[in-house]
Amino acid sequence: MSDEITVHPLPWPPAPIRTERLVLREPGTRDRAAFIELLASPEVHTYLGGPRPRDELEREMSPVPERWPGSFVVELDGSMIGQILLRRATGNRRPAAAGKADLGYLFLPRAWGFGYAAEACAAALGWFADALPGEPVVLATQTANDRSMRLAAKLGFTEVERFEAWGAEQWLGMWSPVTPSA
Ligand SMILES: CC(C)(COP(=O)(O)OP(=O)(O)OC[C@H]1O[C@@H](n2cnc3c(N)ncnc32)[C@H](O)[C@@H]1OP(=O)(O)O)[C@@H](O)C(=O)NCCC(=O)NCCS
Repeated sequence: MSDEITVHPLPWPPAPIRTERLVLREPGTRDRAAFIELLASPEVHTYLGGPRPRDELEREMSPVPERWPGSFVVELDGSMIGQILLRRATGNRRPAAAGKADLGYLFLPRAWGFGYAAEACAAALGWFADALPGEPVVLATQTANDRSMRLAAKLGFTEVERFEAWGAEQWLGMWSPVTPSA
């Protein structure tokens, strides 16, 4: 996947976003070990084409990993538990998603099952809706990824289509901000 990753024009970095239990902020040097754990985790990458080798990550990862507009570290009690990605995939293969912002999420397995991903994604979508009013967001996930499918539904994404790619059935969903009626 070599799609360009920009979400311009976004006011970036935003001030840290605080939810009931979490903080969303841009990545920093203190997150490097957690990013390596996240990207090397076979469990996290079951439906994402497999993890990256840990030694390669240790060698090659930037001192400030994943620092780009739309990349949020999700922090619980001062430690990173996951990443939220909001990016515009300019070369998206699905016409319905072309040019739209795309939501992704990766959480460390020990942080699954507590509603943290839902809480963080809802906050990121709220921030996005304030920054770019009226803009929809798309999300692609494997249909076999039950946790991700449940999360997408909980966040209010609705199905656009299902398609085959990378040897598996994929789900494309879309989210639109609720606009107050006149
Ligand atoms: C997809 C992923 C982020 C989902 O994480 P998750 O923790 O299951 O998602 P949520 O934050 O919605 O949490 C839901 C679970 O928390 C439970 N929960 C516990 N306390 C809760 C609370 N206070 N509020 C809400 N839910 C709570 C829910 O009951 C639910 O449990 P269940 O799965 O047993 O039904 C995670 O599995 C992951 O990182 N996967 C690997 C990466 C990936 O595949 N990403 C998709 C590609 S875009």
